[in-house]
Amino acid sequence: MKLWGGRFTEATDELVERYTSSIGFDQRLAEVDIRGSIAHARMLGRQGIIGADEAEQIIAGLEGLLADARAGRLAFRVEDEDIHMNVERLLHERIGPVAGKLHTGRSRNDQVALDMHLYMREACGQVVEDIRALQAALVEVAEAHPDVIIPGYTHLQRAQPVLLAHHLLAYFWMLERDAERFADAASRTDMMPLGAGALAGSTFPLDREQVMRELGFGRLYENSLDAVSDRDYLIEFLAASSILMMHLSRLAEELVLWTSEEFGFVELADAYCTGSSMMPQKKNPDVAELVRGKTGRVYGHLLGLLTVLKGLPLAYNKDLQEDKEGVFDTIDTLLPALRLFAGMIRTMRVRQERLREAFSRDFSNATDVADYLAAKGVPFREAHEVVGRLVLLAIERGTNLEGLSLADYRALSDRFEEDIFEHIRIERVVAARATRGGTAPAAVAQQLALAKERLANRLGDAHHTQATDGT
Ligand code: ARG
Repeated sequence: MKLWGGRFTEATDELVERYTSSIGFDQRLAEVDIRGSIAHARMLGRQGIIGADEAEQIIAGLEGLLADARAGRLAFRVEDEDIHMNVERLLHERIGPVAGKLHTGRSRNDQVALDMHLYMREACGQVVEDIRALQAALVEVAEAHPDVIIPGYTHLQRAQPVLLAHHLLAYFWMLERDAERFADAASRTDMMPLGAGALAGSTFPLDREQVMRELGFGRLYENSLDAVSDRDYLIEFLAASSILMMHLSRLAEELVLWTSEEFGFVELADAYCTGSSMMPQKKNPDVAELVRGKTGRVYGHLLGLLTVLKGLPLAYNKDLQEDKEGVFDTIDTLLPALRLFAGMIRTMRVRQERLREAFSRDFSNATDVADYLAAKGVPFREAHEVVGRLVLLAIERGTNLEGLSLADYRALSDRFEEDIFEHIRIERVVAARATRGGTAPAAVAQQLALAKERLANRLGDAHHTQATDGT
């Protein structure tokens, strides 16, 4: 017998039952569903909509179910369609017909909206916390290598040298914006929809503010149609997740490049790599590759939900049940990615011996030769031309700018003096970029201090720290 079976005379087709059922994935909402029901039942009792004793029996039954849900002891059935009707059936088995009073003044439409708001509020908090942990790992590695220099690239061609710490901290600031985006999305998740009923509100004197306060929400939905139809907060979560995954994917790509023999800048810990079944020498950066690969599915979930909502009339439509799997899969994709990256970054070895060699055949100090002339009053365009010819000469001789003689320099401009060689030393080249936000060790130290300050201030921010994914 279905909870909604009254107007039906025939049984549901079995395929229809399986096709419309959501219990396979919405059982993740069991805890929040029960917590929401406890708040609803308490409010019904206080308002005299049901008897105080009835409310007590219902709440006691729900608390029993909550304990069982936390212990993974609830048995769900596909015939009961979704988490809401499964919980109601389980409550009925536990406390008898009084369970039938719980759904007074409520629809599954506002119920599922409430559940998702509760769930996502916690998910946003968890993501922010895991972002912080990855930021902390980046800061740690940056701090441990204050003067390691790596080639900086544009167009993936050697451009100018930068500090490794500077490069890693670039990701710190990307992640900082990600954390802000999730906190911002959480602020619009913090709205209480219950009381909207199926779409139009309720004939019962519900106290929505009471439910809002009990569940710790900051605001109410002010329109019942909006309350049951809104999935913006999920789209925002998926959008923030897509940007975050894009950042992780860029870092993943750099790690894949950097661990190749051609770059050889870092070596990942064995714990974060896998081998080949055929080639005994292989040590592959699978985790980085998979994170790069999984970015696509998160983008897919964003596009999927946007498309579900496009053209959907108010208010609830069954299409909206499609909001869940993509969001849950996104959470399950994001959280392990963040955690794995934190561990992988923290344990990677910087190959300083390789990095010292990296500049032996390279021209990443060429800008500094041009700047040297420009500082002596030579128009920069002219200086650029002179250095271009020096580079060409060095290439012809199979050397670099350090390998030319002062006579070679002076043949192209008499403004060159012996100090040009000190001027183009790679450490000096890096140290010379002392603008705020630049790569000079002093500027990076300042940046690092700012980053650490941000971390210290923000670590306390993620107050909804309960794990939502069981990983
Ligand atoms: N399982 C449904 C969902 O996830 C719950 C709401 C169902 N409401 C309804 N009128 N069928 O969206």
